[in-house]
Amino acid sequence: MTQDEMKQAVARAAIQFVVEGEIIGVGTGSTANFFIDELGKIRDRIRGAVASSEATASRLRGHGIEVLDLNQVSSIPVYIDGADEIDASGAMIKGGGAALTREKIVASVAQRFICIADASKLVQTLGKFPLPVEVIPMAAQAVARSLQAEGGHALLRMRDGAPLVTDNGCHILDVSGLSITDPVALESRINQIPGVVTVGLFARQGASVCLLGHADHVQELRFA
Ligand code: 5RP
Repeated sequence: MTQDEMKQAVARAAIQFVVEGEIIGVGTGSTANFFIDELGKIRDRIRGAVASSEATASRLRGHGIEVLDLNQVSSIPVYIDGADEIDASGAMIKGGGAALTREKIVASVAQRFICIADASKLVQTLGKFPLPVEVIPMAAQAVARSLQAEGGHALLRMRDGAPLVTDNGCHILDVSGLSITDPVALESRINQIPGVVTVGLFARQGASVCLLGHADHVQELRFA
């Protein structure tokens, strides 16, 4: 099985977590895209979706799924999204697709986070994948210096020769060189740095379930 086939398999398996007649929170990225394609097949069984990015909203609409503003919604039973890394406690690094802020917001409203990923995303210690941090543009260098004090090296994410601009009009720092042994504590510390909008550590509120795609099966991990 290729990596894409594993992503497709977990996307298919995630359909069992969709709650009939309810609103679903939908993540961003290639695995989430496979999930949206599966969701399109059962669109008559849901009330609509809340999207974690403009890209996801447009793919959902392309499948005829109604996209609701989060302000119209008071509860979301399930949020389904990929991850860049996940550890054995369900803590994740996210934001490789630059959608971390809206992902964290939608996930925070949801009762359960179902993470869908190929098996390469399961790690012992988070941090090999550079940690994305969304920042207010004027604070980028100040935040980068503070992150250096945490032992990381922060690089401004670029696209087409200019700093990448997120759906929220902000920039992203990618922080390499971190070995994240206490993700909850690091998430709390980075949240305190002035100018940080969102850190791509999802540890204080991690995954409830992870569907991991292997070459010949989908493994289900459940977290407390
Ligand atoms: C986007 C994300 C994605 O979930 C993460 O980057 C994984 O992406 P993919 O499914 O393409 O491997 O956090 O901001």
